[in-house]
Amino acid sequence: MTATAVPVAEAVVAGVRAAGAHDLVSLSVPDGPGWRRSRPGQFVVVPADPTAGRILPEVLWLAGVHADPVHGTVFDLLLPVGRAAPGQVVRVLGPLGRGFAAPSEPVPVLLVGHETGAVPLRWLLEVLRERGCVVHVLLGASDPELHLDLVHLRRHARTVVLALPEDLTATLARMLADPAVDPAVVYAAAPVPVLRDVAEEARSAGRTVRACALDLAGDTLVCGTGLCGACDLEVVDAGVARVLRPCLEGPVLPGEWLLGDEPS
Ligand code: FES
Repeated sequence: MTATAVPVAEAVVAGVRAAGAHDLVSLSVPDGPGWRRSRPGQFVVVPADPTAGRILPEVLWLAGVHADPVHGTVFDLLLPVGRAAPGQVVRVLGPLGRGFAAPSEPVPVLLVGHETGAVPLRWLLEVLRERGCVVHVLLGASDPELHLDLVHLRRHARTVVLALPEDLTATLARMLADPAVDPAVVYAAAPVPVLRDVAEEARSAGRTVRACALDLAGDTLVCGTGLCGACDLEVVDAGVARVLRPCLEGPVLPGEWLLGDEPS
């Protein structure tokens, strides 16, 4: 498997505002087709730069992309508080990866996330609401402090349900059986073991799942550009078992692939 050429941009921090336990950092970049096509579930890479004290690349979820004639193209990242300041220049590769596609019709949907791995869902929620979807959210976290920007999620979602990681699957089962939720599609962003549980539960309930299968918050460092192999994932695609590299072929995949079934 080989890495593909990736777009590089000089991004300038245009604004920083508080978002729960993080900063929502907005960066302006030159307009380009990649940014115009960008979707939740895509990411950027901040390359290693030993002269700036960064010896490893950093992979970050896109938390939003906006374009208008006044501000140009601006993308958002959710970063630790104090990490970025207005005017700072950052070299980024991206947007990279295949993101979530919104349903063609406005349908009820359920977003399932885990701690800060749920960043793509924050933006997806906005996109789905703009499409007229009723959105329900289920978030798992081992500590309430690790839930992501709940004020924003509660502003846009019909319901936001919080669960401990050990209760996530049972809570999901209850929500899938609840006529007031009744999602046509489940979108999930979480570590792969959680995604497999979500896909299994949703399959049992006869629901379609789309899973964002790249763990940026785990213990394993990832490059985001297909070089390190740290993200390699066993799937069954069209009945054939194979190893897939989510940073190149995903990260958004049919949840059924994580179960060994053909995608719906
Ligand atoms: S993250 Fe390095 S190959 Fe995918």
